[in-house]
Amino acid sequence: MKTLGLAGLGTMGSGIAQIFAEKGYAVVAIEANENLLQKGIGRVGSSLDRKVQKGKMTAEEKVKVLANIKLTTSAQELEQVDFFIEAVTENLEIKSKMLKEFDTIIKPEVLFATNTSSISITKLAGYTKRAEKFIGMHFFNPVPVMKLVEVVRGIATNDETVHTTIALAKELDKTPIEVNDFPGFVSNRILMPMINEAIFALMESVATAEAIDGVMKLGMNHPMGPLELADFIGLDVCLDILEVLYEGFRDPKYRPCSLLIKYVNAGYLGRKSGKGFYKY
Ligand code: 3HC
Repeated sequence: MKTLGLAGLGTMGSGIAQIFAEKGYAVVAIEANENLLQKGIGRVGSSLDRKVQKGKMTAEEKVKVLANIKLTTSAQELEQVDFFIEAVTENLEIKSKMLKEFDTIIKPEVLFATNTSSISITKLAGYTKRAEKFIGMHFFNPVPVMKLVEVVRGIATNDETVHTTIALAKELDKTPIEVNDFPGFVSNRILMPMINEAIFALMESVATAEAIDGVMKLGMNHPMGPLELADFIGLDVCLDILEVLYEGFRDPKYRPCSLLIKYVNAGYLGRKSGKGFYKY
């Protein structure tokens, strides 16, 4: 494997592009337009700048890493890739349309991985003709820092696909953990109800946002409190995942807190919009 095809250069996609490019892979990154490509590569540049400033990488190495990432808006550029990851926005309509199209362009023997945070792998695989070669490769934000890759097996995913994905994650210095395809997988099935409960606690005035986060940071040794983390992930993303859990299990314990819904409706999306549970 030498060339990664990567769809989506948002927060997660740019992190994925960076770690592959740092390992010497050629990355062909595709986005819907030039503006999104430039924003994405800007994020990779800033992340690499941190490493240069900390003396963990030289300025020459940074230039080499960036040179490994080819930016394109043309799907035909994906013809030659050896592995493909989709990291586009968490919208089934967008993902399904893209998967159907790329399935006809990318060589049939190439494995397809999706970085979806909660959409069913089995369902996404159904939009391609390579369900046995389709897998979840769930990275965590910030991708260059977080060790975990949740490797999610769809109903038809074969063993070879799982083994190749696990080996690839290890090569990227990540720790892969294999799970099965259920709503929210393991990570978000456990994380999102915790975040949701923190929002209920805030709404019921059990404590202030700072106090709720302080309890979880100091009492449970979490690096970020749940409300700070929700802002970091994006409140819209948290709401989308909770909706997937709620609909997937048809269990009221996953119902999104009405305060979260209100914030998302107001455009309070967390760090990316400048306001969420905190101001940025
Ligand atoms: N990009 C690249 N590197 C970053 C970074 C970023 N956005 N943010 C921080 N870093 C690096 C720093 O350069 C530093 O590197 P070093 O140790 O090599 O010097 C290291 O991370 C620690 O950073 P800081 O000292 O600046 O800050 P903190 O110690 O406060 O750590 C944090 C920042 C790593 C983000 C930490 O607060 C943390 O672990 N938070 C929780 C993150 C988390 O839970 N992520 C998962 C979210 S869920 C998800 O992604 C799944 C999805 O499906 C919802």
